[in-house]
Amino acid sequence: MSATLNIAVSAARAAGNLIMRSLNQLDSLQVTAKARNEYVTEVDRQAEAEIIRIIHKAYPDHAILAEESGEHGTGEAVWTIDPLDGTTNFLHGFPQFAVSIALSVGGRLETAVVYDPMRQELFTTVRGGGAQLDGRRIRVSGRTHLEDALIGTGIPYRANLVWMDAYLAMMREVMERTSGLRRPGAAALDLAYVAAGRLDAFWEFGLSTWDVAAGALLIREAGGRISDFEGGEGFMESGNVVAGNPKIYAHLSRLLAPHYARGKRVAQQAS
Ligand code: IPD
Ligand code: CA
Ligand code: CA
Repeated sequence: MSATLNIAVSAARAAGNLIMRSLNQLDSLQVTAKARNEYVTEVDRQAEAEIIRIIHKAYPDHAILAEESGEHGTGEAVWTIDPLDGTTNFLHGFPQFAVSIALSVGGRLETAVVYDPMRQELFTTVRGGGAQLDGRRIRVSGRTHLEDALIGTGIPYRANLVWMDAYLAMMREVMERTSGLRRPGAAALDLAYVAAGRLDAFWEFGLSTWDVAAGALLIREAGGRISDFEGGEGFMESGNVVAGNPKIYAHLSRLLAPHYARGKRVAQQAS
């Protein structure tokens, strides 16, 4: 295992263990609402602190971009961290959440881990080395027809409510034309599922860099595609993401395009 992946895995497992210990004490958790529909717990913060401690012990000079505590340092090597992706699920005891950690060097994703502590599933990748689940190679699915595809998504909220009408039209098309639509509630894990072929494609608006970074490398290393809605690389900044196996990604992008164009006009008028 590469040295950076080793550290990423140790950090993700440590955070995952902390999250699992806290799951038994959900009733006594201090919960703060950052904004409507956006919660943070002491577990998010403690898990993040533990991840940063482990990374900085091994790589004191590396920079960090972490959801709860923001930026630490600057430099070529940056670790992007979501210590608990799916906090709403976690707070309800709904067993779908994960730890997401990615390392980029000079803006290029190099190493990534998504860890599901409920199922103890570890998704790992190093650029050029493929993607693995618990050490075994994974690939995106081989499905080619939209009507056979299982599609994942996330529902817009907060600042992204402006996309709601376009989003509902997208949902309707996808529900009518595919074999099913899922909203599991932890974007990093949704992307890992695309990499593992459990979902054939995925789309969401307004994600954050830490939701997407690790999943993006996993998908690419598993032979899949990920982009913004115009096929570009800007998805890490905009958080507007469409991903999938190459065939279903292409079908889904085409299906969503007219609704995206309409939503974009509405979003531009609103800003
Ligand atoms: C959220 C989850 C969710 C997505 C939201 C994210 P958090 O992350 O990934 O699936 O729909 O946009 O904010 O806040 O639980 O880390
Ligand atoms: Ca997240
Ligand atoms: Ca989070």
